[in-house]
Amino acid sequence: MLLNRYIIAFFLFSFLGFVWESVYFTICKHKWANRRSLPVLICMIYGCGALLAFLAYDLIESGLLQNVKWWMIFILGFIISLFLGYIASLVLEKLFKARWWDYSNVPLNINGRASVPTSVAFGVLALLLVKALIPLVDRGLSTLSEPLIDISAYILVSIVIIDTTLSISLLTDFQKYVVFIDEGFQNYVAVIVKLVYGKQDSCYYKVIQRIMVFKFPRRKNRLVKQLREKRFVELTKDYFESDVVKQMDKYIHHGTTTTLQHCENVAWISYLVNKKLKLNANEKELIGVAMLHDLFLYDWHDGEPCRKTHGFDHPEIACNNAIKHFGIPEKQQQAILSHMWPLNITKIPKSRVALIICMVDKYCALMETIRLNKRFGLRY
Ligand SMILES: [Fe+2]
Ligand SMILES: [Fe+2]
Repeated sequence: MLLNRYIIAFFLFSFLGFVWESVYFTICKHKWANRRSLPVLICMIYGCGALLAFLAYDLIESGLLQNVKWWMIFILGFIISLFLGYIASLVLEKLFKARWWDYSNVPLNINGRASVPTSVAFGVLALLLVKALIPLVDRGLSTLSEPLIDISAYILVSIVIIDTTLSISLLTDFQKYVVFIDEGFQNYVAVIVKLVYGKQDSCYYKVIQRIMVFKFPRRKNRLVKQLREKRFVELTKDYFESDVVKQMDKYIHHGTTTTLQHCENVAWISYLVNKKLKLNANEKELIGVAMLHDLFLYDWHDGEPCRKTHGFDHPEIACNNAIKHFGIPEKQQQAILSHMWPLNITKIPKSRVALIICMVDKYCALMETIRLNKRFGLRY
């Protein structure tokens, strides 16, 4: 999958960034300088920058960006590093009450968070990345088999999620940070939605589409449709006939998608993922959990004070409703309770079904929030 190629590149350049920074500062300060931004040995700011450079490289290679001169890459690298450096420094300081870099002693600095000379260096680095390093990495990745890239990406993401989750959970005011991050995320998504709708035909839209979409080749799409007609409809039939499940269609969940449509989307994608990746999860259990995982009967946007903790509370509400109306067994209860992990930090998905639902739920929520579900066969 294309996304996994980006994930590998992100971790590779984060690690290289960590090595470069640690060596540089160790030489300057004559003592070991640990420059990691998380408990794992990576320096994510380099990964983020390299990811942008990778996107630019792909756009140039695919012909979507033409006539790009070397000085344009340099200027773009300069501007992005200035903004990215400033914002990352601010966010890291707010979250962890520490500064990972301080350019106060460097001329032409902005509050010590970013500076012109270092951004010039990053402009040169951007040039080096797009012209030399990324083509090299791209060639290297193309020699690897797809399953190997996929497995490596999953392992890397899992290590970082587990490591970061455990570390952050040690902070006493973890919940405060979650609210802070959530507010930031909501604002960010609102901006993205505006951009996507404003520039539907632009390169930007195409890039988003290319990265985020779980897309099947045309031939397989036909197969998938046929499957949906038979087996999937069979498995979901009982739920759609239930009065309590029908009520979920009254409430908006993400974007313009109702809670029932969201559950159907999660069921559909989980069903496909299970089949396509041959995960061998029990289909009946999987569809049951997917259809009931958000069985709460209210609009969580209605502004009621108790909705502030909706993200933490609703798995339990859905689970109780699912027990009451469908008498679901223990294993399915656990899967519903853990679908919001890592937000609900202690409710770790422990079964195959739980893991699939936890991942697919996030994918569908994102697609629905940025309103790409209509284009790619999800309910809307
Ligand atoms: Fe949920
Ligand atoms: Fe959900």
